[in-house]
Amino acid sequence: MIVPRLIERKRDGKALEPAEIRELVLEYAAGNVPDYQMAAFLMAVFFRSLDKSEMTALMEAMIDSGDRLDLSHLQLPRIDKHSTGGVGDKTSLILAPVMASLGVAVPMMSGRGLGHTGGTLDKLESIPGFRTSLTLDEARRQVEKIGCAMLGQTLEIVPADRKLYALRDATATVEVIPLIAASIMSKKISESLTGLVLDIKSGSGSFLPELKDEIALAQAMIGLGADYGCPVVALVTAMDRPLGFACGNTLEVVEAIDVLNGGGPADLIEVTVELGAEMLLLGSKAGSRGEGRTMMQEAVSSGRAIAKFEEIVQAQGGDARVVRDPSRLGLAPIRREYYAPRDGVVQTVEPRAVGHGVIELGGGRTSMEDEVDPAVGFVITCKPGDRVKRGAPLAVVHARTEADAEAGKRRLGEAIVIGDAALRALPLVSHRITAAGVEPVNALS
Ligand code: URA
Repeated sequence: MIVPRLIERKRDGKALEPAEIRELVLEYAAGNVPDYQMAAFLMAVFFRSLDKSEMTALMEAMIDSGDRLDLSHLQLPRIDKHSTGGVGDKTSLILAPVMASLGVAVPMMSGRGLGHTGGTLDKLESIPGFRTSLTLDEARRQVEKIGCAMLGQTLEIVPADRKLYALRDATATVEVIPLIAASIMSKKISESLTGLVLDIKSGSGSFLPELKDEIALAQAMIGLGADYGCPVVALVTAMDRPLGFACGNTLEVVEAIDVLNGGGPADLIEVTVELGAEMLLLGSKAGSRGEGRTMMQEAVSSGRAIAKFEEIVQAQGGDARVVRDPSRLGLAPIRREYYAPRDGVVQTVEPRAVGHGVIELGGGRTSMEDEVDPAVGFVITCKPGDRVKRGAPLAVVHARTEADAEAGKRRLGEAIVIGDAALRALPLVSHRITAAGVEPVNALS
């Protein structure tokens, strides 16, 4: 393999043979191709993209660069959920225990927050003692025992993706649909899933703000899953405002526990239930979406879902007492309300401004090495379309210092725009994408 010739062909818009992609990726993972050559190749891909057979070869090479979480011996459906990332999105914390309590095995491999979006691992780690760095063996034993493990990408699984992703991050080559699709699906296939539900965020706070790109990403992942016996279903959900009220790691865990106990904000419940109904359909546990919704409600009202969450927290070394008593989770000492500056209608609660506000409070990161403060954030109780009176409480800032609380309030002032008339908000769930095509969501029943 002569790497400059491969770079040159990709640079000139020619397709590479699957075997060439495979060798390049495996040699890179083994340390035999330097970063500068791989970076040049990635930039050529950024401009020229990859066709289906190149994308499949990339995914297969990344899978084969490491070990798998082999759960194929389990007589249970194995379904995960993946979100393209949002603000206030704590659906994974709810779905994992609900699904496991309904007989769906959930090997859930999640990421950390980066950019303006939060990450499931950071949220879980706000529970004292909770360990997300499980080995594959530990994760396998836990799924066998209690039906669920919530972990980060281990050192053993898809090491080529880990190395490539870090290089993409450092060379402005992340936003390429075939690279994203192969990266995410390599991890999902390595979890030996029998199905995957994708939460594709749309709107100003989403990773790819153009809906057509989100749909193309979902379709690329559906195509890759189909080749591996892992059917993928995607729902397009709104990220033109935060999901739920809480934004910040501990606050989000508290809100997720509230939902598992039968409470919580209506938008968060609706999106979670729609994603969960798809997981139950894919796992053949429900015969219809309606039946899936009923099963989820029953899992919550019977207490089985919250009991499963307690079991997961305990199994992963966390202080399980917080599940019954979330006040044990410490919050930052300063708590300041934000009031409506005028009469009117809430036009936007801009998720990017809120996400950046959480980072400024210390609750997120600007580089992978940053420490996060789990105890800070916002609880924003207004939604676009709400009519408000001047002086009405719209949000609470949780901060370490008075100065941070003031900065947080300024961020809220930018994020929450109040005008004379409502603007059009996105539907909470707008489209469903499967191998059969894209359907608008009002067709769902
Ligand atoms: N998340 C991933 O795991 N990989 C990507 O390439 C982008 C987001």
